[in-house]
Amino acid sequence: MKTLPLEKALTFIEPGPLTLVTTFDGKKPNVMTISWTAALDFNQHILLVTGPWNYSFDALLKTKECVVCLPGPALLKKAVQVGMISGETEDKFKKLRIKTYPAKKVKAPLLAGCVACLECRVTDYIKKYGFVILQVMEVWHNERCRDKRLVHAVGDGTFTADGEHFNLRALMKEKLPPGL
Ligand SMILES: Cc1cc2nc3c(=O)[nH]c(=O)nc-3n(C[C@H](O)[C@H](O)[C@H](O)COP(=O)(O)O)c2cc1C
Repeated sequence: MKTLPLEKALTFIEPGPLTLVTTFDGKKPNVMTISWTAALDFNQHILLVTGPWNYSFDALLKTKECVVCLPGPALLKKAVQVGMISGETEDKFKKLRIKTYPAKKVKAPLLAGCVACLECRVTDYIKKYGFVILQVMEVWHNERCRDKRLVHAVGDGTFTADGEHFNLRALMKEKLPPGL
């Protein structure tokens, strides 16, 4: 083995899936790309890492609502484009031709073509780390999406898609809560 620069550390601790997070500020919807995501427990709490450098952040904290959408490989390029411009100056839905649908429990929209969309409310914000803790309230799954692999940002501008699926459910039986 040989050592690598410290910055390379995060490329090995690959975070959760790449997400597209929609918000609604009361006037218009917006969407941002978030790759720093994690599941926190079995009670539908999930984590996003973000902050005031994003225009969406204000709406996220004020409305305490968002939709976390999971793009598959077909939407990867668009997901990166979403993260390269700001809703402060651009209508990303128009510019990038992203279709939306109304959500059930929040005002932020669902994104067409995604593998799944999670309607969420913000339960906590830990400023020091930019941790936004979300409670998922509604789960949408797109059965028509042909390639349902989730995509992951490595952290250096490259991406991976989920690969081989291993079923070790029998081995984990005692640790899996009902419904999973
Ligand atoms: C691949 C990718 C991943 C990103 N991940 C994050 C992230 O985890 N947290 C974050 O705050 N910003 C992240 N960004 C940056 C925001 O998506 C970007 O600043 C976006 O333009 C914010 O949009 P807004 O200003 O309309 O809210 C990412 C951008 C890209 C391209």
